[in-house]
Amino acid sequence: MAEKSMEKLVSLCKRRGFVFPASEIYGGINGFWDYGPLGIQLKNNIRDDWWRNMVECPPVGPDGHPLQIVGLDSAIIQNPKTWEASGHVGGFNDPMVDCKESKSRYRADHLLVISNRNDTGENRMYAFIADDSDSEDRAHKLLAKYEKVDLPLSEVDYQVRPLVQLPVEDLQRIVGPDVKTPGSLTEPRQFNLMLDTYPGVIRDETNKAYLRPETAQGIFLNYKNVLDTMRVRVPFGIAQVGKAFRNEVTPRNFIFRSREFEQMEMEWFCHPDDAKKWYEFWKDQRMKWWLSLGIDPENLICRDHEQDELAHYSSACVDVEYRYPFTTPGFGELEGIAHRGGFDLTQHQEHSKVKMQYFDQERNERYIPHVIEPAGGLTRGTLVLLCEAFTLDENRPSGVYMKFLPRLAPIKAAIFPLVNKEGMPEIAEKLYLDLRGKFTCQFDVKQNIGKRYARMDEVGTPFCFTIDGQTKEDQTVTVRYRDTLQQERIGIDKVEAF
Ligand code: GAP
Repeated sequence: MAEKSMEKLVSLCKRRGFVFPASEIYGGINGFWDYGPLGIQLKNNIRDDWWRNMVECPPVGPDGHPLQIVGLDSAIIQNPKTWEASGHVGGFNDPMVDCKESKSRYRADHLLVISNRNDTGENRMYAFIADDSDSEDRAHKLLAKYEKVDLPLSEVDYQVRPLVQLPVEDLQRIVGPDVKTPGSLTEPRQFNLMLDTYPGVIRDETNKAYLRPETAQGIFLNYKNVLDTMRVRVPFGIAQVGKAFRNEVTPRNFIFRSREFEQMEMEWFCHPDDAKKWYEFWKDQRMKWWLSLGIDPENLICRDHEQDELAHYSSACVDVEYRYPFTTPGFGELEGIAHRGGFDLTQHQEHSKVKMQYFDQERNERYIPHVIEPAGGLTRGTLVLLCEAFTLDENRPSGVYMKFLPRLAPIKAAIFPLVNKEGMPEIAEKLYLDLRGKFTCQFDVKQNIGKRYARMDEVGTPFCFTIDGQTKEDQTVTVRYRDTLQQERIGIDKVEAF
């Protein structure tokens, strides 16, 4: 995994049409990305697999019966009272510090400070940006690399601490990540992550609305509509995939943390007494689903949140975490599974004055259901599959190929005439037309065959079918396997079944 550098992956994504920086011709815009022709295909394949697994073919529950989960597509902009009730207006904040000299802005909780353990209260201290998984060991290496300390590391006993844990007076001694003199960092202050907008013609505070920071609230707003119109009974789920927006202080690590991204969320409404059981159930299901996308089990873990990590709405939460190239050897978040209790429905009941209680006929009891929420990142999941598929192989021209599971690969099959003459393109095009209604295929006649294979390796196409001189004689084509590079002949009439 160490060799799977982000630099190489980002370059492949650009070169082969997976992900482009948004507004690139204008110099880009921090925290926004465009998904190219192959990126959108891959992202849609993950989304469709999730939707099938959640809505069309939900898991079988502990009692042996299939669960009831219905889909939803709610508006990105809702009445702003939604976000007051949900706690996002008051509580969806990150601590932020500014650097007065470099004008950079950092998440205060992402800054670590290295200092002498026998500090006399006068020496300089150095702040650097660290992923959650960065170890103290990495901090030392980083520091040594940039030669920021005045003394050789071997002679001094250093300690690394989160900036937010240091007394405010120490700020005067701290050298910020992008500057050379101490004292340029401001005190941490809370920064609301919601992006706002002003629908309609009048641009004042009374017309302020928000781009949703999570898809979940649209589900809570429609809980009653779904109950009243669909034949669902508690326990049941509502699933939604869509865009969410957060004004992240420091968007980074490619599409890992961006300001516009997509989520796949499902709110599972259940009786309060059963919530713990369902929490365990969904933990297990979600790990299984991610593994079913071909992720190496070594690279995926489930990590319970500490009490002080829990979001304002949650009484328990576990993260599914992946070993990204930039967190290795540690892990970073991919999905959170939260026990939200009755928080959201109760809040919306209080703020809207609309009753959110459910009458359970079987139990003859009225209650506000509790909610278990598996909330995954679709764009982050796309990054995970890109990282996971990225396979170094010195036997290939570009030294790399993308090993997607065939069912998730953006292109399932490429159809090539060996040369662009002698009747081969016509046969190849006919085969392409026969297959394209069932599989995402690509027909390509240009360049020599080696280059066309190399391109398909880099975009992760599992099979290439080539029409050559022999095809006209015996109606066979070669099939080339992406992973083994082996080739064999099969009848042209057997390609679809293959
Ligand atoms: N409704 C609960 C909720 O939104 P979250 O942990 O804040 O929970 C769920 O978000 C998932 O959304 C995360 O696990 C992550 O995959 C994705 N996500 C959150 N912020 C993101 C960002 N800035 N960029 C990309 N993905 C993000």
